[in-house]
Amino acid sequence: MEAQRDRSAWLKGPSATCRVPAHETERPWRLILLGAPGVGKGTQAQLLADRLGACHLSTGDVFRAAKCAEEKELSPAMAAALDYMRRGELVPDPTVLAMVKERVGCLRCRGGFLLDGFPRTVAQAEALRDLLTRESLELDGVLDYELPIDEIVSRLSGRRTCGSCKAVFHLTTMPPKVAGVCDHCGGALLQREDDRPESVRVRMEAYARSTAPLTEFYRQAGKLIPISAEGSPEEIFQRTLTALGAKGA
Ligand code: AP5
Repeated sequence: MEAQRDRSAWLKGPSATCRVPAHETERPWRLILLGAPGVGKGTQAQLLADRLGACHLSTGDVFRAAKCAEEKELSPAMAAALDYMRRGELVPDPTVLAMVKERVGCLRCRGGFLLDGFPRTVAQAEALRDLLTRESLELDGVLDYELPIDEIVSRLSGRRTCGSCKAVFHLTTMPPKVAGVCDHCGGALLQREDDRPESVRVRMEAYARSTAPLTEFYRQAGKLIPISAEGSPEEIFQRTLTALGAKGA
């Protein structure tokens, strides 16, 4: 299975098709990844996508991809969304929901999905529940990654992301083979604008206010799977597979 699958339909919207279509799997996993910014959701999503065959669907990646588009191609709502994001604030629910609804084909995908960064508020979770019900799709679970704040801040300050395929590295804990160059596609590794200290603080506050209540929402729905995010990415990955009962997947 490809380490980095094509996500054109998710990143660019319904006008694009994926070069590498998802394999039809007997067991399409449909999961949400929850946890504070920097806890390691994107890193786990990359490992899970490779093992489970489900596509990594990150709303943050869609906004970052839009940032690279020509200014005149952006709708007014998307241009405003990018300003919220730069400051570390949450993008308004209607903008996020419109963007996800446009990409509903990715939720229907035969390979399943790993939603990362969505839902972010209880209103978004309710809208997703209604969307999945309309599509007759069932969520398998919500992985809730937990980590002390000091460790989170150190993970964010050393993060570097490939400008091309979006693969994630860390200067000390997951360095690329060649400094500044992506192991997967040779693209340049960049620091995200919202990893500056002032934006990180705003993101943590937004998380505590808007996203943390989601754990209660999914606990009540019987979907919450709490997972300690301490240790190496591989240790956390093994913990996740055990929690999913997916060791042999
Ligand atoms: P988004 O892109 O979703 O960012 P986030 O939730 O802030 O999460 P991150 O990507 O920062 O962290 P992560 O947990 O994925 O960590 P990673 O694996 O990279 O959102 C960005 C913005 O978009 C939001 O602030 C908002 O403005 C907007 N937005 C997006 N969705 C929205 C929505 N639904 N509603 C409203 N607004 C929305 O890991 C971090 C670093 O640690 C990496 O360098 C990694 O290599 C390293 N690392 C990972 N695991 C380990 C480990 N076990 N040990 C040591 N280092 C590790």
